Amino acid sequence: MAVGAVPRHVAIIMDGNGRWAQQKGRPRVFGHIRGCGRVKPVVREADRLGIKALTLYAFSTENWSRPEQEIAVLWRLLKKYLVREADELHRRNIRFRVIGEVERLSPDLREVIDKTTQRLSGNTGLQLTFAVSYGARRELARAAKLFAEDVARGRRKPEEMNEDLMEHYLWTAEMGDQAEVDLLIRTSGEMRVSNFLLWQAAYAELYFEDACWPDFEVAHLVRAVNDYASRERRFGSVPEPKATSKPPVGQNAQPLLPSISLELC
Ligand code: IPE
Ligand code: IPE
Ligand code: MG
Repeated sequence: MAVGAVPRHVAIIMDGNGRWAQQKGRPRVFGHIRGCGRVKPVVREADRLGIKALTLYAFSTENWSRPEQEIAVLWRLLKKYLVREADELHRRNIRFRVIGEVERLSPDLREVIDKTTQRLSGNTGLQLTFAVSYGARRELARAAKLFAEDVARGRRKPEEMNEDLMEHYLWTAEMGDQAEVDLLIRTSGEMRVSNFLLWQAAYAELYFEDACWPDFEVAHLVRAVNDYASRERRFGSVPEPKATSKPPVGQNAQPLLPSISLELC
């Protein structure tokens, strides 16, 4: 990909809500409430910047180990966000999906998710995805199980499995080639991926932001995108040769590969 390009798929680990609140002497859920309010401007800005897919990590499979009360607040906030924002998302031609173990969510939350997903499914703009009860290891184990079932039923042969086919069994299958994450942002200064999009972000550029999620402003997103634009993505290859000026008349051009004696190695 050319240097200077806008990332097509940006994924964000929205971290630091609890610490943000505790630094202010408030309960952790206060951070979740403020953090929820940061989603709207970030979605708008992602759309304005021309990002095609935005995936937000809202709740991990590991987050089920948190106190029940904290989890309940997170579900209420998710529901409220969807109910409140559906109109605006629709006006902006934004599609919406959830990836993760939706079957573990309460029926009423699932209903809101399904309604929102359906209502926005015909839109053709930014693909907004919430990762909810999501874990990349769970996603990969599930993919292996689904493929094994297809083999057992005679729909597939083991030798058919390859990287392209694997993607059909992931939660991100419907995203097609947009599933590949270009830029992975994590807030709050933590430098780990915490079981997020391990397959899809295999070649993502990583960006760590010190601000906690409730302090994450549109300007932080712009900075991350600009930083991304300055990076050279090589995907394991060698840098593109720079355009060189012609050798002076009468001199031979430099050979592309200098003759190095392999015995030196
Ligand atoms: C991220 O903030 C939100 C979720 C994981 C749901 P945290 O709640 O992890 O906040 P910290 O990292 O403990 O500060
Ligand atoms: C990752 O953050 C999950 C979300 C942001 C939803 P966590 O706070 O749960 O991750 P760890 O515990 O720091 O790895
Ligand atoms: Mg955290």
